[in-house]
Amino acid sequence: GRVAVVMGGQSAEREVSLDSGRNVLAALRAKGVDAHAVDGIPALLDALRAGHYARVFNILHGGGGENGELQGALQALRVPFTGSGVLGSALSLDKIRAKLVWQALGLPTPRFKALPRGADVQAAAREIGFPLIVKPAWEGSSVGVTRVFEAKDLDAAVALARRYPGDLLMETLIEGGEYTVGILDRQVLPTIRIVPKGEYYDYNAKYVAEDTEYVCPGLDGAAEQEMRDLALAAFDALACSGWGRVDVMRDREGCNYLLEVNTAPGMTSHSLVPKAARALGIDFETACWRVLETSFT
Ligand code: DAL
Ligand code: MG
Repeated sequence: GRVAVVMGGQSAEREVSLDSGRNVLAALRAKGVDAHAVDGIPALLDALRAGHYARVFNILHGGGGENGELQGALQALRVPFTGSGVLGSALSLDKIRAKLVWQALGLPTPRFKALPRGADVQAAAREIGFPLIVKPAWEGSSVGVTRVFEAKDLDAAVALARRYPGDLLMETLIEGGEYTVGILDRQVLPTIRIVPKGEYYDYNAKYVAEDTEYVCPGLDGAAEQEMRDLALAAFDALACSGWGRVDVMRDREGCNYLLEVNTAPGMTSHSLVPKAARALGIDFETACWRVLETSFT
């Protein structure tokens, strides 16, 4: 049947999603799939009620597509879709609740404090210690994220993060290496070590800069296996399924810390799941087909 590739939407990651979506659409068509672009959830639900599509490839990033909202609607309509269900999506998009689940299970994640409105930010920072990161709990692609090295810069960081929907958190900045681990149909892909040319892997380094370096596999031997195992444990802990990407920091002592799970990770030409798949000889078209297959069960 016809496949709706839902992309765009209204989150801060709209442009990234449109870029991912165009790539997915072309790849599915190259595989012979009768795939069509649909922008956002309201348009998708209208088309589904009119009987236009048999299944959905979800490549919306951020709120709406990655927080359970879309998944709940599709489940109610009995329309199969790619990726995680309601619970896995909702837990993963909320960085605070994801970390609470990992902590409860003894999985490593950087120390943090939630910052509800009216929270004493300076006191929280004294508890966490510098350097730290302030970030919105519900955003992706580093939108609204600030690294803070001294107390005088806290207020600006909090003001920026508060411009986005949802809660805020403050987290210890792990100094070392940034890694990510793709999961495709329960197959854990090789880790990628990200080496931005600037200081950080921010929005610019993610989507604009052409000089960000990616090393895959990112680690050797037991360390590589350890990080892959941790990623799968983190994914399972949040009730995720289908596919996704787990972001991990590794400090200079070789300790790993879970940052977050992305349940509809980027599929742009700069994105990471396609790079990790390629390292296994899985081309982009096949990777998109494998993601589509996660809607078949
Ligand atoms: N949130 C972006 C799309 C990613 O994780 O790839
Ligand atoms: Mg994310």
